[in-house]
Amino acid sequence: MNSFLKGFLAAALVCCINSLVFSQSSTPGNLPTDYLTPAFHAGRRQALRDMMPANSVAVIFSYPERVFSKDINYVYHPNPDLYYFSGYKEPDAMLLVFKEIQADGDSSYNELFFIRHRDAAREQWTGRRLGVAGVKSQLGFKRVYNSEAFAKFPIDLKKFKTIIYDSMPNNLNDGGPGSLKDLITNFKVKSDIKDVDEDLLYDLNLIYQRASPKNLDRVISYLKPRLDKNSYKNNELIKELINKPDSVTLADVKVKIKANPSGLSLFTNITDDLRGIKTPEELVLLKKSVEISSIAHAEAMRAVKPQMSETELEGIMLYVHKHYGAEDEGYPPIVGAGANGCILHYEENNATRVKNQLVLMDVGAEYHGYSADVTRTFPANGKFTDEQKSIYQAVYDAQEEVFKLCKEGVKYSDLEIKTREVLSSRLIQLGIIKSAGEVGKYYPHGVSHHLGLDVHDKGEYGGELKAGMVITVEPGVYIPAGSPCDKKWWNIGVRIEDDMLIGKDGGTLLSIDAPRKWEDVEKTIAEKSIFDGGKFPELKVVLK
Ligand code: GLY
Ligand code: MN
Ligand code: MN
Repeated sequence: MNSFLKGFLAAALVCCINSLVFSQSSTPGNLPTDYLTPAFHAGRRQALRDMMPANSVAVIFSYPERVFSKDINYVYHPNPDLYYFSGYKEPDAMLLVFKEIQADGDSSYNELFFIRHRDAAREQWTGRRLGVAGVKSQLGFKRVYNSEAFAKFPIDLKKFKTIIYDSMPNNLNDGGPGSLKDLITNFKVKSDIKDVDEDLLYDLNLIYQRASPKNLDRVISYLKPRLDKNSYKNNELIKELINKPDSVTLADVKVKIKANPSGLSLFTNITDDLRGIKTPEELVLLKKSVEISSIAHAEAMRAVKPQMSETELEGIMLYVHKHYGAEDEGYPPIVGAGANGCILHYEENNATRVKNQLVLMDVGAEYHGYSADVTRTFPANGKFTDEQKSIYQAVYDAQEEVFKLCKEGVKYSDLEIKTREVLSSRLIQLGIIKSAGEVGKYYPHGVSHHLGLDVHDKGEYGGELKAGMVITVEPGVYIPAGSPCDKKWWNIGVRIEDDMLIGKDGGTLLSIDAPRKWEDVEKTIAEKSIFDGGKFPELKVVLK
């Protein structure tokens, strides 16, 4: 019998444990007080409702739990959309938001929330649950039910003209009544949504949002291998575009997609619009997350020694994050020395010595759900070599030029064009490439993405920058050994990544506390770290 099962049985027999757990659960105490408020989440639901078409319902599920080891799960991470619209952070839940008020006997509702039930025995093992009463009192919902109740809940979702929903996870374990699998199964029955090809719906939306006459060749080569699937082969819009791939057909296909959006594409488009512009309440948390991460980068610079390991440097960052109350990391930390700095999403972090090499650290805290995304690259021995400095300065200059574009009205695509322009001219000057067309060999990623509850956040990527967006600016140059250039450049990998709040007339650099100029980086490395008697700085965004 596994230890969990033993525990459940024991707890079921010892009823006094129930009262112990419930009383613990209701009085946790000593917790942060700067969480998003029920009013914030209610405001987001109203904003969602305002954007929904007539006679529609939006359905948002929790993320599944995932196994870490046999009978131990990974620390649960909520679905950012569900968190955004509800504040609920537990699994096995489903939120329904209705455009119109729904009559229900003498009563009515415009939202329903099915959530995970309380369970004293399980709560003693895996932590407190809010339960129906907690979701009502702490999150401000009125119609809340245990998730088991959805199966028999009297609602016919087929009567709605549009059901707005996100892609649903498949291959879920059967967790019994009220589990995520049970909720999804019953949702499909009640809504008659079955056998939809979510990939196809997603791709049609992508064509609508991102395809242009300029990238149409790439869109067609992306679609062609997918024609093996009947759903793609038989889709009229895909057929039209494949048969006559020109700008006129593309415009016609886009009009048709827009006229008849799928519930899935509506969900994507609405949440992109809402989450892409940060509210003042979100900005407080996002600024705090970025400030914590920036201080951690400065501290890692102060603490670094050539004999340290990559994982030790990662640990220093995490220690600083936790010192300031960040619960998590926004993504797996990347700490790569020398050649490892040329691997874009390097995650092993297992070199036992960083030696006298450049260290690339792409590490961002997550604070109350909001993720920072900051990268710094610095020499472990405190001094850039001439070659490292040349590459660093090229990346820095590209970043500075992009910063100047970070204001409302600038086309998102202009950030990329500017980055390529600066990096290609600098790499040509340094003799690393011969023509601008080769720049992608050493700069293989994009320069920006939205930042928020997801590190690669939802938001509009095809249009213009708007005030209230928060984006990264992250040019990089990576020259792995064996590259067709002078050997002196090999194994230099530099990325500098900062987080920028877009304003009407210019941007605000949120990651200003992470040293960025090469002179400041060298100066910081020479300073005393917290491990040698240095002091943690005070946060500017006050901790409550
Ligand atoms: N840390 C992931 C990224 O920079 O996009
Ligand atoms: Mn990034
Ligand atoms: Mn990053």
